[in-house]
Parts: sequence; structure tokens; C-alpha cells
Amino acid sequence: MKSDEIRKKFLAFFEKRGHSIIPSAPLVPENDPTVLFNTAGMQPLVPYLMGEPHPAGKRIADVQKCVRTGDIDEIGDNTHLTFFEMLGNWSLGDYFKEDAIKWSYELLTSKEEGFGLDPNRLYVTVFAGDENVLRDEESARIWESVGMPKHRIYFKGADANWWPAVKGKDTWTGPTGPCSEMFYDLTEEGLGDLTPEEYNKADDEQKIVEIWNDVFMAYEKRDGKIVGELQYKNVDTGAGLERLAAVLQNKKSVFDTDLFEPILAVIPQGDERSRRIVADHIRAAVFLIADGVTPANTDRGYILRRLLRRLILKYPNRALDAEGISVLVDTVVNKYGAFYNNLITQKTFIKQVMEDENDKFKKSLTQGLKQFEKLAEGNINISGKDAFILFSTYGFPIEVTEEMAVEKGMTVDKTGFEEEMKKHQDLSREGAQGKFKGGLGDTSEMSVKYHTATHLLHQALHEVLGDHVEQKGSNITPERLRFDFSHPEKMTDEQKKQVENIVNQKIAEDLPVHKIILPKDEALKIGAHHFFGDKYGDEVSVYYIGDSLENAYSKEFCGGPHVERTGVLGHFTITKEESVAQGVRRIKAILE
Ligand code: ALA
Repeated sequence: MKSDEIRKKFLAFFEKRGHSIIPSAPLVPENDPTVLFNTAGMQPLVPYLMGEPHPAGKRIADVQKCVRTGDIDEIGDNTHLTFFEMLGNWSLGDYFKEDAIKWSYELLTSKEEGFGLDPNRLYVTVFAGDENVLRDEESARIWESVGMPKHRIYFKGADANWWPAVKGKDTWTGPTGPCSEMFYDLTEEGLGDLTPEEYNKADDEQKIVEIWNDVFMAYEKRDGKIVGELQYKNVDTGAGLERLAAVLQNKKSVFDTDLFEPILAVIPQGDERSRRIVADHIRAAVFLIADGVTPANTDRGYILRRLLRRLILKYPNRALDAEGISVLVDTVVNKYGAFYNNLITQKTFIKQVMEDENDKFKKSLTQGLKQFEKLAEGNINISGKDAFILFSTYGFPIEVTEEMAVEKGMTVDKTGFEEEMKKHQDLSREGAQGKFKGGLGDTSEMSVKYHTATHLLHQALHEVLGDHVEQKGSNITPERLRFDFSHPEKMTDEQKKQVENIVNQKIAEDLPVHKIILPKDEALKIGAHHFFGDKYGDEVSVYYIGDSLENAYSKEFCGGPHVERTGVLGHFTITKEESVAQGVRRIKAILE
């Protein structure tokens, strides 16, 4: 079964069972500067899991793009990936364990509507209980009732069977709860019944792989501690498309599935693990750039830079050039563009970003390699300081330095490197915070303000430049807003001034901000702005700024959050206006 069909089947199965299908959110969380990327399907849904009504209803299913960089060292084995797609179904205060488990089992094993997997190769785990929450006998009983033999249901502790919430910069916060995981036997001979010890061993040896996780979210975590029960009990499930594809296509590795086949086919012959890393990283890079991330030395941009530079170094014979980039990007876009349309519209931009990074890195690469050779002479360890210099002066990501060191039988003082990084970042953070000495409130509050300011800016651009202005991207940090839009030429100083004046005028009017839920057609009819990169469900939430919908200043498809009145925003200033791609301009602006 090809991956396109797996996505389709999954969504159709849940649609038939009353679920609304929603599009993937972008990889970069909107309005949440504490998290770098969406790492699970539930992440963009956190407000709804916490009790806010979702415009699409209480039963939802989707395919969510995710990026996880925690396992970057393991990329190239059979199961780990930086970018992956997560299939998920949600109950927002609707069904709970009974239906979730029943449908998981049915979808996996049914020959008609499902994937037709062999029930004799399936194993499941449930939560064993701890000081916070009791042993999940209920889920075990439900598994038995749908047909799982009792001895293939294993009880596991919180390290394996508890969804820990989402980790922000410093802490775990949000919806959390016990989970039940499904595993599939990949061996030729079939493992049959396993004792708990045999089962653990098979798991370690990757003879069985996790294919789906049902989380029963019933608790709330704040600062790493469970503080109580959620308003509603929810279900959050996640099945990795690539692993499911490996199972359904009878492959040992995700890299042998149809999702990777065309990509590996255009990477020149060479070391197999390196080729897999290139294939993984190119997919991640294409999706990240399409969602507005560009290479930089901090945060999201730094992750992308590391992926791109590692890709450049691992590319066979280090021979990546503009032609190679073009072929790789075309291949990824051909494979994924039909499902993720923004890859098609962003293709030229993606190539340009990659070419720029390739040129930049290649310039310092030769020098950096020389420097590395110097350090390697007569040494067995590369100090944190030297690793930092390799990074800051020659652009070597730490993984790259480590890999090169390993090839020479050397070690790298990674802790020392991280300390150097921290010192450096603290310095730049102090610089950024200095800007906000006027007591403008904490990080998340600032982000919300920038979000509302973005809506005002969007409308002001329409007024000043014309209705061809279309949002191409938006990115908010506590320090600034960034807004990309279509416009064929540089804005004049006069136009920038006009836009600033309009936004500041609307702030001075202290307009209220409202939210309503409308059928999509109606929202389009009243002229609400929307982001063409996104697809929407049948019902959408629209934020409007003004006393009533009829005479609102701004109307926009949006999930929020926003400030209550524009008066709190402060003074709006455009700090930069520049080109990001053919016909696309970027504005950066601050509130003071
Ligand atoms: N949130 C769960 C996971 O990512 C489903 O595994």
C-alpha cells in the first residue's frame, strides 16, 4: 500500500466515524515562541485539548507535519527521522478509551476498511500506574474485548506509557495522560507469543516497532507537575506515516518505503548511511523552508542550518551544487506537493535559500577543514572552545565536528561547546531584552500583541498597496513580528510611512478584537483575509477588529490568540522592508 493510500485510508476511516478532517498546521508553531517546531500532531491543538471549542467540532483527524531533532544522531538507522508525518485522530471531550482502542484495532486489522494487518503480529502496552494515576486496567480490558489475547498486553511505567505534555523552553506544560501503544512484529518467521522479558528484548532489537500511540489526556501539567484533571477528557493518537508505510510495504527500514525511494534514487552512490542522512535532511529542509524558516545562527534557523550543512558534508563526494540542489528539491516537491501544496508555490524560494547556504558554507569549508586538521594533529580531544570557533568562524555544526572527530578516533568536549554557546546566546539575549526595558510585559504577552499588530499591518498593506497583497508567511517572536506578502516591488518610504500611520491610528482608536465562528463560504464572502498556504475546514474562526463585523477594520481567518483591545499595543514601527523571493516582500516591525 503506497503512502498516498495510507493517508487517504486513515482519514476516510475516521471521517466515516464522524471526524472532521483538518489540514496540517505549519511546522513552525504559530504564536508560540517557546517551542521550535511542531513535534507531534497534538501540538497545534493544545488550546483545544485544554478546553477551547474547536471550530471543526469534537472529533478531528489529520496528517500533521512534524520535526524532531532530539534523535539527530540516530538518523540513518531503520526508524528515526527528523521530519515525519503523523496521522492522528482526536476526541475533544467526546469519546474516550473504549472507542479509541476499538477503532485503532479495527483500522489496523480490518481487511475492508483498514490496513489488514495480521492480528497475530500485534502487541500492545498500557500504563502500569504510579503515584499519580492508577494502573490502566480499563484499557487492558478494552483491548481484550476487541480481541487482543491477555498475554500480549504489557503493562509499562510512565517512561514508556505516559505522554509527558509538550516541552517549552524550560518546562513541560499542558495536557498529559497515560497512553497505550501498538507494536508490530517485523520478523520473517513471526515471533508469536512473548513473555514480558522476550517482548522487551524484541523491542530493543527493533524486531517489533511501535506503529501507533493512543493517549488518554485527562490531566493538566504545569511546570512539570500534574496539577489536576482537564475540563474534558480527550483522546490524542499518533501513528507515524513512515513506519506504517514500512510495515505495510513489508520493508525493514523507513528508507526503503515509497516515501524515500525517489529521493534516494537521485542521490549519487556512496556510503549508505550518508545517503540516508542526505535523504532525511533534504525532506526536512524543504518542508522547513516552505514554512518560512531560513538559515540563521540561533533557534529555528540554526536547526535548519545544521541540517543543511550536514547534508552538504554528507552528500557523496561533497559534490552538491546548484544542479544537485535543484534535482533534490524537485524530487521532494514532486513526491509531496500534491498533499502539501505550499511546496509547489515555494519551490523556487526553497532552491534559492539552499543555494545561498551552499555557497556560504563552501566558502569557509576548505579553511575550516584546514583548521580542523591543525587541531587534529597530535590531539585526542577537541576542546569546547575550539569546537565553538569551528562553529562560529567556519560554520561547522557541532554534529559535523563530532563526526569528523570520530573518523579520526578523537573526542569532542561537547559540554564545553554548549557552555560556550550559552555564554554567547546569553550575551545576545541580554541585547534583545534591553530593547524592552519599558516594562512591556512577558514573552507570551508580547507575542499576542505582535499577533494582533500583524492583522492591522495586513489590512493597512491592502489599503496602501492594493488588494493583490496576499499573506505568504508570518512569524512572531517576543521581539518583533515578521510578515511576508506578495507585492512586485520595493515599498517606497512614503508607503511605509503611510502603513505605520494607519496602524498607529488604529491602535490609538483602541478598537475591540472579536472572534466568531463562520461557515467557510460565508467568511470568504465577507472578505476575511486568509493565508493561501493553509487549507481550512468547513467552519472557520474569524477574528475581526472593530465594533461590529459590518464595519470592522480587519477581518481574518485565524485561530488566535489576540489582545482584547488594540490600545494596549504601543507604538508600531517598521524596522525593515526587503525582498525574500521573486514577488514576495518581507516586513519586520516592532512595538514599543
Ligand atoms: N501525542 C502522541 C505521540 O506523539 C500521540 O506519540
